[in-house]
Amino acid sequence: MESDVQRQAENHVRIFDTTLRDGEQSPGASLNSAEKLEIAHHLAALGVDIIEAGFPAASPDDLAAVRRIAQEIGTAEGPVICGLARCVPSDIEKCWEAVQPAAKPRIHTFISSSDIHLKYQFNLTREQALERAREMVRLARSLCADVEFSTMDAGRSDWNYVAQMCAAAIEEGATTLNIPDTVGYMTPTEYGAMIAYLIEHTPGGKDVIWSVHCHDDLGMATANTLAGLHAGARQAEVTINGIGERAGNTALEEVVMAINTRQGYYKLWTGIQTPQLSRISRLVANYTGMVVQPNKAIIGANAFAHEAGIHQDGQLKHQETYEIMRPESVGVSESRLVLGKHSGRHAFKVRLRDLGYQLTDAELQEAFKRFKDVADRKKHITDADLQALMAHQLEGPKEVFKLKALQVTCGQVGMPTATVRLEAPDGTECIEAGIGTGPVDATYTAINKIVNAPNKLLEFSVRAITEGIDAMGEVTVRICTLDGEYQTFGGHGADPDIVVAAAKAYLAALNRMLVATGGAGETPEGESATIRMVGD
Ligand code: KIV
Ligand code: ZN
Repeated sequence: MESDVQRQAENHVRIFDTTLRDGEQSPGASLNSAEKLEIAHHLAALGVDIIEAGFPAASPDDLAAVRRIAQEIGTAEGPVICGLARCVPSDIEKCWEAVQPAAKPRIHTFISSSDIHLKYQFNLTREQALERAREMVRLARSLCADVEFSTMDAGRSDWNYVAQMCAAAIEEGATTLNIPDTVGYMTPTEYGAMIAYLIEHTPGGKDVIWSVHCHDDLGMATANTLAGLHAGARQAEVTINGIGERAGNTALEEVVMAINTRQGYYKLWTGIQTPQLSRISRLVANYTGMVVQPNKAIIGANAFAHEAGIHQDGQLKHQETYEIMRPESVGVSESRLVLGKHSGRHAFKVRLRDLGYQLTDAELQEAFKRFKDVADRKKHITDADLQALMAHQLEGPKEVFKLKALQVTCGQVGMPTATVRLEAPDGTECIEAGIGTGPVDATYTAINKIVNAPNKLLEFSVRAITEGIDAMGEVTVRICTLDGEYQTFGGHGADPDIVVAAAKAYLAALNRMLVATGGAGETPEGESATIRMVGD
């Protein structure tokens, strides 16, 4: 008879996070290596089992970023550190070079299994692809004890052929078999049936871990992933906030909370520390510049907001009337009116500690200064406000240029004008004024005159963090370089004054761009920047 321990082990779903690989492939979501490292630290603290840290063969920078994560985060107690490689010898060798420093390294290699990919993209017959898969898994296995193999576009492939490919990979030593619905084509019933078929019909299939990897083109990624797990898969490949190619990947937070909330149905478990979900979601949104929609399941701003009278009435009578999860279980605090301008340093420190922030004395001092600044202008500081302030302080980019002051004149009469004072990297202060179509445009014009880093604004979004007329405004922007590489950078700023929040967000994105590109850039005409000093 099966013991409880055995059952417990069998029902463990390994969470394979691919935010830094598939997620980073989202249009415009590129991350620099410091940001990747920071996200990887948070993923390890969240309790993911495997971090897919990147695609080392893509560029020397990608290889270095994966290697650094393997060195710093891939400790014996930490997660498995995985890199992606095509079924190409040089990819596999580079991947090994990158993941090797980890205590638990993994090579993840893949090849397409659908006729449409083999014929039009790779010009390979089924036999050739199968042979290539076999040889490359053998090569990967000669380097690394932990090898995962994926059949790309499995969702549109002949199931029997996928089983043959997987059998060859298992024979060569792959221990995790991943079945991607690369183009998000399948339905939950079909995908679940496919996983059950493969487990049953693949020689050696009962001795390996089957993994699910779904894309959201038809909005079914989470449902498909759960159907695959229900059918026997025990690894879910997911990303924070569901970011990824096109419509994205399966969202980590959705799968984990569905498993937790519907324990009785799925009878599965994960090692995820769910109270950290909200924080890591915010971090990834800030770094990638990809804003989370308010109605997004689990981590959207409205996920626990009850607006309709009948719902509020029910909630007040009994929490479970309209709430299937406690907000605290995903790190959303229920407390509303927390602190104000008379709150002392101790109360502030305790509240931050309760929200999960362990600060050094210097960080606390800086945080308290920011808090007082906001409290002077906003009566009640909620947990959401505090989290926004902390996100800016702890997760913001290195401050190359700092916003010291902003003065805006706008309205229906006259030209919107902004005067901006920034502190430059060498400590000098620079003042410029700008005119624009509105106050934000005028502010950005003034900042551009000082920073002189040509870029294009791709996205600008504003949201109120909390309700009320004095709500903190949160602005997220995405910009790209104009140097022909079109690298994109995200920035995020929060302030009770929405124009100040917009200035902070733009500066954050510019600072990221300056750090990554290593300079203040040239004007479009090729002239270097003229920075006007105060008093010039
Ligand atoms: O979607 C996909 O097929 C992938 C593979 C490379 C695993 O991301
Ligand atoms: Zn994918």
